[in-house]
Amino acid sequence: MDPRLEIIGERLKDIKRSIAISGGKGGIGKSSVASTIALTLSSLGHKVGLLDLDFYGPSTHVILGITGIYPQEEKGIVPPEVHGIKFMSIIYYARDNPSPLRGADVSNAMIELLAITRWGQLDFLIVDMPPGIGDATLDMIRLMKKTGFLIVTTQSKVTLETVKKILEMLKELEVPIIGVIENMKMLKSSSVREQIREFDVPLLGEIDFDKNLEASTGDANQLLQTDFAQSVRRIVLSTPEFKL
Ligand SMILES: Nc1ncnc2c1ncn2[C@@H]1O[C@H](COP(=O)(O)OP(=O)(O)OP(=O)(O)O)[C@@H](O)[C@H]1O
Ligand SMILES: [Mg+2]
Repeated sequence: MDPRLEIIGERLKDIKRSIAISGGKGGIGKSSVASTIALTLSSLGHKVGLLDLDFYGPSTHVILGITGIYPQEEKGIVPPEVHGIKFMSIIYYARDNPSPLRGADVSNAMIELLAITRWGQLDFLIVDMPPGIGDATLDMIRLMKKTGFLIVTTQSKVTLETVKKILEMLKELEVPIIGVIENMKMLKSSSVREQIREFDVPLLGEIDFDKNLEASTGDANQLLQTDFAQSVRRIVLSTPEFKL
C-alpha cells in the first residue's frame, strides 16, 4: 500500500468537518461560493481551511486576491493564513509546471498535496472542486472520506441535467450530500427545487445574479460586502452542517 495514504489520514484527523463544493458545469460559481463560505465561517469565529483542488483551473487565489504568499516547509507544508483562512491550492504544487496534469499525474498530485499539507486543528475544511465528476472527484472521495458534498447549480436545464447525474452518482457512492445551492438566479422559477425533488436532498438557498460581484474579484473585503456574500451568509447560518 502507498504509505502516503496512511499519512493523509493522519494529516486530516484534526479537521472536524470537510465540505466539498462541486457542481455539474464550469463557470457556475463553485469557487466564488467556496471562497465566500470560507470567509463567512471564519468571520463567525471558526477555524477554517480552504483547499483548491481544481487541477484544471484553480481560481480561489484569484477571487480572494492571494498573491506573493507561499506555504512554508516544516515537516510537511504549512498552509499560509490569509484573511483568517488557512489556504492551500494545487496552484502551489503546479507553480513550475505550466502543462496541465493528466490522468495518473492528477491522482499522484492530489495524494502528494493531501499527504504533505499540515492543516492542524480546523473546524471546517472547504474544498473547491473542478466541474463535474471526473477522476479528481473520485480520488478525492476515496482519499477524504466523510467529506460532505454541497452542489452548486444554476437554473439552466443543461446544468441541471449534469447536476442530476452527480447527485445520482454521489448517492450510489453513499457520499453524504449536504444540499444544493441555486446560483446566478435571474428568473423566478422553482425548476431547481422540482428537478432535485426525486433525490431527497435539500435546496439550501438561492443566490441572485449579482452584477457587482465581478468588481470584487481579488478583494476579499469587498467580496464580503456584496449581495452575493449576504446570500451565502444566510445559507451558512441556516444550514445545520455549518454548525458544530
Ligand atoms: N451570483 C453571481 N452573480 C454574478 N456573477 C457570478 C455569480 N456567481 C459567480 N459569478 C461569476 O461567474 C464567474 C465564474 O465563477 P466561478 O469561478 O466561481 O465559477 P466556477 O464554477 O468555480 O468555475 P470553474 O468551473 O471554471 O471552476 C466569475 O466571474 C464570478 O464572479
Ligand atoms: Mg472554480
